[in-house]
Amino acid sequence: MSSEQNNQPRQILVTSALPYANGSIHIGHMLEHIQTDIWTRFQKLRGHQCISVCADDTHGTPIMLRAQKEGVTPEDFIAATREEHLKDFEDFLVEYDNYHSTHSEENRELSELIYNRLNDAGHIAKRTISQLFDPEKEMFLPDRFVKGECPKCGSEDQYGDNCDNCGATYSPTELKNPKSAVSGATPINKDSEHYFFKLTNFESMLKTWTRDGHVQEQIANKLDEWFEAGLQEWDISRDAPYFGFEIPGAPGKYFYVWVDAPIGYMASFKNLCDKRDDLNFDDYWNADSAAEVHHFIGKDIVYFHTLFWPAMLHGSGFRKPTKVHAHGFLTVNGTKMSKSKGTFVKARTYLNHLDPEYLRYYFMAKLTSKVDDFDLNLEDFVARINSDLVNKYINIASRVASFIGKKFDGRLADDVADHPLIKEAQGAAETIAEFYENKQYGRAIREIMSIADKANKYVDSEEPWVKIKDETTAPQVQVVSTVCLNVFKILTIYLKPAIPAMAEKVEAFLNVEPLQWSDISEVLQGRTVNKFKPMVQRIDPKKLEAMIEEGKEEAAAASAPQLADPLKEEIEFSDFDKIDLRVVKIVKAEHVEGAEKLLKLQLDLDGVTKQVFAGIKSAYAPEDLQGKLTVMVANLKPRKMRFGVSEGMVLAAGPGGKDLWILNPDEGAQPGMRVK
Ligand code: MSP
Ligand code: ZN
Repeated sequence: MSSEQNNQPRQILVTSALPYANGSIHIGHMLEHIQTDIWTRFQKLRGHQCISVCADDTHGTPIMLRAQKEGVTPEDFIAATREEHLKDFEDFLVEYDNYHSTHSEENRELSELIYNRLNDAGHIAKRTISQLFDPEKEMFLPDRFVKGECPKCGSEDQYGDNCDNCGATYSPTELKNPKSAVSGATPINKDSEHYFFKLTNFESMLKTWTRDGHVQEQIANKLDEWFEAGLQEWDISRDAPYFGFEIPGAPGKYFYVWVDAPIGYMASFKNLCDKRDDLNFDDYWNADSAAEVHHFIGKDIVYFHTLFWPAMLHGSGFRKPTKVHAHGFLTVNGTKMSKSKGTFVKARTYLNHLDPEYLRYYFMAKLTSKVDDFDLNLEDFVARINSDLVNKYINIASRVASFIGKKFDGRLADDVADHPLIKEAQGAAETIAEFYENKQYGRAIREIMSIADKANKYVDSEEPWVKIKDETTAPQVQVVSTVCLNVFKILTIYLKPAIPAMAEKVEAFLNVEPLQWSDISEVLQGRTVNKFKPMVQRIDPKKLEAMIEEGKEEAAAASAPQLADPLKEEIEFSDFDKIDLRVVKIVKAEHVEGAEKLLKLQLDLDGVTKQVFAGIKSAYAPEDLQGKLTVMVANLKPRKMRFGVSEGMVLAAGPGGKDLWILNPDEGAQPGMRVK
């Protein structure tokens, strides 16, 4: 870090919104994590202490039910998702200093602390409310888990909060013929005491805060609308069963997931502080902290981050965010990401086909500081990467590298420091830094590419390929190449936050230590560079098509109807063929002394009799079975049981108890016949 930089080293904590642990990371998430990572890498490059943290958001009903459905504990479920998420981010070169989980001790402690302080200060209210309750599953139903007919237009199969058909919003108790999406039961209304956060106590503080440069203009305007509509008390408790943290002093009541989710930012940082000697939690979070806290979030969660969150922090004696940076949603080819079009692309699906730096660069090239949606236009994507990264940026080096390598033994010229092109490239540093700082990434790229254009024009006009052939002009080629490689180095520093892996290859080629912002002023001269190796490939549109195709296949597989009781692993015909199924006649059925569940059956296979003990006593009386035809597994190894040997198995369907049904072959089948 160079101390000449006009600003002192800052202490900056950066976060991305914590992804829910019940799904995979997709390229919409990546829009956020990549812009966060670019900003963080920029600050680090400038020599600031910049720490980025994230975590999985693990609590709530959907995750609890999802784990149940998959037959695993929520803890195991979220641990597996976290591994998957981490790998996705890592492979996209998104580097968090810490990636934690909201289901952590640090988060529990901080959540309790913040709640207790809010409660002590009189910011918590209690009140009984009535909500829809699933009497079968014995749980209160979140809006999204109730379905029924829209009270406005009558459209069927609508969620409990709004109608897809007419767009009406309502409360779940207004739905006609409501059904629980969990069990199918008809929900009932049930009373329960809930805890509320008195957001209204913070109205004047929030009104000032939002106009003090902590949010973008568009967001401040949105907030005005919300202030005008009136702030409400916020319901922060949920009843058991719930996967989350119990509220102190309120057994059976849990923090609503959105209470402990943002506290998860602090918890992840706390977890990091405990691992690192150079970081102190209080330095960053005390009310009078001089450090900065920057949250990067999507436009859908602005309310939580610009109203609830600063109020919670303020009310519990912590500092508030320095800035909340909201972004719009990712669209693909001008429309919402769509599973059937294959444009709902998971991070992993992208990585299976394409280089992560293509997407990182494209996001950088088109991002603004506004909250507008971001369109990933696939044609433009290919064109942009090929024209900017390949034809403009890397081209500067590839056009001159071979002259330096072959004709000058890799040695750069001396005395180029005052060359106007180098001066110009250096001179753009503060403008570009400001664009980075203000998240005007697209403007930074325009600035960078215009320098690249000038460098390419310079090569065109100098015609080194001509000059190299003439002994008198050949030495000029070393100067031209050295100037170009210096501009290339400076552009690499400017681009490094977006394309860190490519920058590393450049550093290896230029034979320099990892480049920092302060290296912009150092000029490479009179030293040697290494052999130039290609650093980026043009995008092959076929790979893009293959990615979209994989997206479509995934979507088709996921939307195929799912069985409640999923199928077992696929088998080969030869596996099935090992089982010898036969039609048999039940010639005798009797109770077994001392056996609670078993009946003893004598089964005739056309002259040969087999004895089988079958666990069907709860559903059949012996006299009902005698004389019936059924199907048995006839080649099952005989098994010695407490009551005798069982020489096979009869087949029955159903959950058990009274609900068990043995198979009956259609009329005409004869005992002994093979079933195949
Ligand atoms: N768990 C909450 C956030 C808690 S933060 C204390 C959540 N999770 S999420 O997985 O649904 O979304 C995580 C982030 O990704 C949010 O900022 C959200 O806006 C962003 N995006 C999700 N889909 C997106 C797009 N299609 N496009 C851009 N960003 C998107 O919300
Ligand atoms: Zn409707």
